[in-house]
Amino acid sequence: MAVAIFLLVLVVGSVVFTFVSPWWFTDIASNWGTIDTTVLITFWVCGVVFVAVGLFMAYSTWKFRHQEDSRAEYEPENSRLEWILTIVTTVGVALMLAPGLIVWEDYVNVPDDAQEFEVLAKQWTWAFRFPGEDGKFGTVHVRNINVDNPFGMNPDDPNGADDVLINRNEVHLPINQPFKALLRSNDVLHDFWVPEIRAKMDAVPGMITYFWFEPTKVGKYDILCAELCGRGHYTMRGEFFIDTQEDFDAWLAAQPTWEQMQAGISPKVYSALARRGREVADTQGCFACHSLDGSQVVGPTWQGLWGSERQLTDGSSVTVDEPYIIESIREPAVQLVEGFAPVMIPYGADLISDDDVEALVAYLREETSPQEEAAEE
Ligand code: CUA
Repeated sequence: MAVAIFLLVLVVGSVVFTFVSPWWFTDIASNWGTIDTTVLITFWVCGVVFVAVGLFMAYSTWKFRHQEDSRAEYEPENSRLEWILTIVTTVGVALMLAPGLIVWEDYVNVPDDAQEFEVLAKQWTWAFRFPGEDGKFGTVHVRNINVDNPFGMNPDDPNGADDVLINRNEVHLPINQPFKALLRSNDVLHDFWVPEIRAKMDAVPGMITYFWFEPTKVGKYDILCAELCGRGHYTMRGEFFIDTQEDFDAWLAAQPTWEQMQAGISPKVYSALARRGREVADTQGCFACHSLDGSQVVGPTWQGLWGSERQLTDGSSVTVDEPYIIESIREPAVQLVEGFAPVMIPYGADLISDDDVEALVAYLREETSPQEEAAEE
């Protein structure tokens, strides 16, 4: 009796929880309503089967419980029941699989008028590339990737000169225009996912994958990485904007092309140690949380960091110097900047060596000290 009641409560509780809990799909912002429909069909098929099996189990444990004078019946065959179960199961499985085939057909056939943009995934940030005015991407290769060429652009390919490069966790797309996203990864498996778009795809090192979608609702959405890709996986987030065509055009025009990036970067000369520090910052995923351009990501920006005065949560202030930066890496919660939560993990010697910290400090000194900025302007 207790088991039967437990099963009954489990079934009723699950149904109630499903319908009163606040967790459901976010509002859709793309053409992929068919993906929602497919998920909903699977949800209803599984839900009906779950309730039916659960209630049948509850009934059976009560009805056929042990009784002194009852005898079991022997019934090895029941072809009518077997037919019913076979047909019902077949229909249920077909209902779940067939819609997926129809949607997949759509998914892999990119519309002719789709424009392209590239998503570059790396531990633990995103970067984006648009083909520029010529509509053609320049070729890339991993062996070209370095501090000044984060996309691995081929310097000899004229198609690449006007490519628009966005080396941060932010991308905009115009509404009502289909886009084919080309995905690549610098290191391990990642997965580009904007929940409101519904569609997503793995970024696989060594190959270019793709999927397509059409943004349908202006707004700001989260980019998530949907593939466990290492220690910083949870920080691999970004901002995805769906703009009107005018807003998008204005935004895109303000982004640097590869040609401009080369011109802007070349004059700045870093010491060898600082260059290595920049690589440390890239590989450790520092830029997932700290920007160079003044924008607040997760942690305080690094713009103008060196020598600046920082207000701390305990009301005191500190001048940013080498000891403070080292402490902020090793024990980030000790002197926390005002307005930020203690979310950064302590980077002990097991995560980043003293040599790497030294290189990082050199990089921060050369990149963010005010004298350097004055020299640039
Ligand atoms: Cu990239 Cu998880």
